[in-house]
Amino acid sequence: MQAQNNISCFIRIDVYKSFRVNYSLLVFIKHGKDMYILCSKMSTKVSSNVKNLNKKGTMRAWQIHQYGGNEELTLSDSVTIPKIKDPKGILINVHAASINPIDCRMRAGYGSTAMNGIRQKTIFPTNGGEFPLILGRDFSGEVVETGRDVRKFQRGDEVWGTVFASKQGCLADYTIAQEHEISLKPSMITHTSASSIPYVACTVNAALKEFGGLSENSVKDKRILIYGGSGGIGTFAIQLMKAFGAEVATICSTDAIELVTSLGADVVIDYTKQDVRQELANIEKFDIILDSFGKEKTGYSMEFLKSSKCNDSKYITLKHPFLQNIDDYGIPVGLLRSLSDAAIDISLGLRKGISHRWAIYLPTGKALERFAKLVDDDQIIPVIDKVFPFEDVPAAFEKVEQGHARGKTVIQMVKEK
Ligand SMILES: NC(=O)c1ccc[n+]([C@@H]2O[C@H](COP(=O)([O-])OP(=O)(O)OC[C@H]3O[C@@H](n4cnc5c(N)ncnc54)[C@H](OP(=O)(O)O)[C@@H]3O)[C@@H](O)[C@H]2O)c1
Repeated sequence: MQAQNNISCFIRIDVYKSFRVNYSLLVFIKHGKDMYILCSKMSTKVSSNVKNLNKKGTMRAWQIHQYGGNEELTLSDSVTIPKIKDPKGILINVHAASINPIDCRMRAGYGSTAMNGIRQKTIFPTNGGEFPLILGRDFSGEVVETGRDVRKFQRGDEVWGTVFASKQGCLADYTIAQEHEISLKPSMITHTSASSIPYVACTVNAALKEFGGLSENSVKDKRILIYGGSGGIGTFAIQLMKAFGAEVATICSTDAIELVTSLGADVVIDYTKQDVRQELANIEKFDIILDSFGKEKTGYSMEFLKSSKCNDSKYITLKHPFLQNIDDYGIPVGLLRSLSDAAIDISLGLRKGISHRWAIYLPTGKALERFAKLVDDDQIIPVIDKVFPFEDVPAAFEKVEQGHARGKTVIQMVKEK
């Protein structure tokens, strides 16, 4: 019953806090209180390490002015370089960024209701709405300026990290991240390689640790099934689980078998040639399933989890209607629908003797610091499908939207020697 209590407690707290902050989603997804009006004691004065970033104070950025298809992406070279308003903010010169499926979905408006809810509740609300909006959630680059209260980083530090979805993104020459969202990048790899990791790494970390309640030690020798082993999430999750000593099975298509095997997968099922259900039935049951496709497609696999009285087998899904419900029904009703949908999943899981968890990306510089060491120790290697120059961002979106990823799609702002 331990797992159930954790989840329901989490939901209760979030509902309570959400109402207190006028249905804001921020606390619900545990993104830290420092973005709220609750933090009104914080000073807005920012100390600058750099006198002039460039003469004009402008940068290149890919923006959208309304939600829609790829045609909405426009490149401007006269966007004002963002100013640090939050004492924990850090201005970063972006050398490379990656494109994640969430960027394509956000371009089309996914999650906008929740993100606007958060934007209006921040200490520095974006007056006049979200547009023009810069997409791009993860990057690698160099610190050029730090907020007054930043302690861990200084000008010139090479860092990697993520920017939260309610903020202006990093498909630009400069972006602002919070101190808790970044860490020093791995020293042994380039910015281009490094930029491929932070968003998927933070998502996998959130799924397993924050939502799944698992730790490095608790996954050791556990059997985990990872759906979509060939994509961004899969290629990272396989390597992380192997580094932590788990036994990994994954599902992918034929031409990705070699890739996922080279990353350490112990069992590989080819969903294009094999009957996945039959194959899963023939092998030992799992302790954990990490699902990126949603229970409509993969819910059947719950029967291949070890069931136990204490529900310590975990079905963790990254595909659930949390943000979609809010887009469809607005913040209060959408949240209630999500609570009710999650409660149904939890209770169905309990009947099967498993713990069913919904997970969502959460930023974490602390985990990135740990992952940087694993990268420098060669336990995790960046898997890059294709690198696009900054001018070709729309082509990169098109590629990600077409699917069949073999690792990550990366954008290079600064050419490497
Ligand atoms: N909740 C969150 O916060 C969160 C965060 C990140 C990602 N996600 C979700 O997680 C999903 C995966 O993200 P990602 O970045 O890894 O996407 P991705 O890079 O596009 O990878 C998806 C991979 O799955 C493979 N695939 C497609 N159908 C499959 C099937 N039936 N069985 C096994 N593999 C299959 C694809 O290759 P082939 O088609 O060639 O097989 C591709 O390699 C996305 O849909 C995203 O929405 C959620």
